[in-house]
Amino acid sequence: MPIIRQAELRDAAPLAALAERTFRDTFEAANTPEDMALHCREHYREALQGQEILDPGLTTLVCEHDGELVAFAQLRRDPPPPCVPSARPLEIQRLYVASAWHGKGLAQELMRHCLTQAESEGADQVWLGVWEHNPRAIAFYRKFGFQEVGNHIFPLGTDPQCDLILVRPAVV
Ligand SMILES: CC(C)(COP(=O)(O)OP(=O)(O)OC[C@H]1O[C@@H](n2cnc3c(N)ncnc32)[C@H](O)[C@@H]1OP(=O)(O)O)[C@@H](O)C(=O)NCCC(=O)NCCS
Repeated sequence: MPIIRQAELRDAAPLAALAERTFRDTFEAANTPEDMALHCREHYREALQGQEILDPGLTTLVCEHDGELVAFAQLRRDPPPPCVPSARPLEIQRLYVASAWHGKGLAQELMRHCLTQAESEGADQVWLGVWEHNPRAIAFYRKFGFQEVGNHIFPLGTDPQCDLILVRPAVV
C-alpha cells in the first residue's frame, strides 16, 4: 500500500503531472478539449503546485508508491459558501487517485488522513464541492457520511458547471 505523507517542495513537478493526468482522466470525456486545456493551463504546473505546497492556507497530502505519486488531497482553509453550517470549516479542495488505484481502499485511507488532519486542527465540519455528474465520487463521499447542503458554480474553462456542496462532521 502507498505511504501517505505531507507534500514537500520536491513533489511539485510530479504532483503537477499527477493532478493534470487525474483531472483529464476524470473529466475529459464530458468536456470540450478547449475547456480542458484552459483549465489545465491555469491550474497545473510545477510552479503553481510548488506555491500550493508552501501555502500556509493549504495542506497537501500525497500518496507515494515505489517512488511515484499515485494520489493526493488538498485541504483549504478559505471561507466556505453560506450553505456550509460551520464555525470552523475545512475544505477538501481536491482528492484524486490514479485510476490504477481506484477500488483498492487507497481513497478511503486518504480520506481518513484528511479527516484526522481536520480533527487535529480543530475544524468542526469538513466540506467539499463535487460535480453533479461525477457519480463515483458522490457515492464515495456518501459512504463517508457527507450530506448535500447546497451547490455552487465551478468554472471548468469557459463552462460554468454545477458542483454539489457536501458536508460532514470533522471527527474520524
Ligand atoms: C472519487 C475517488 C477518490 C473514489 O475512490 P475509489 O477508490 O474509486 O472509491 P470506491 O472504490 O470506494 O468507489 C466509490 C463508490 O462508487 C461506486 N462506483 C464505482 N464506479 C461507479 C460508477 N461508474 N458510477 C457510480 N458509482 C460507482 C463504487 O461501487 C463504490 O461504492 P460501493 O463501495 O458502495 O460499491 C476515485 O474514484 C477518484 O480519484 N476518482 C477520480 C477523481 C475524482 O473524481 N475526484 C473527486 C473530485 S470531487
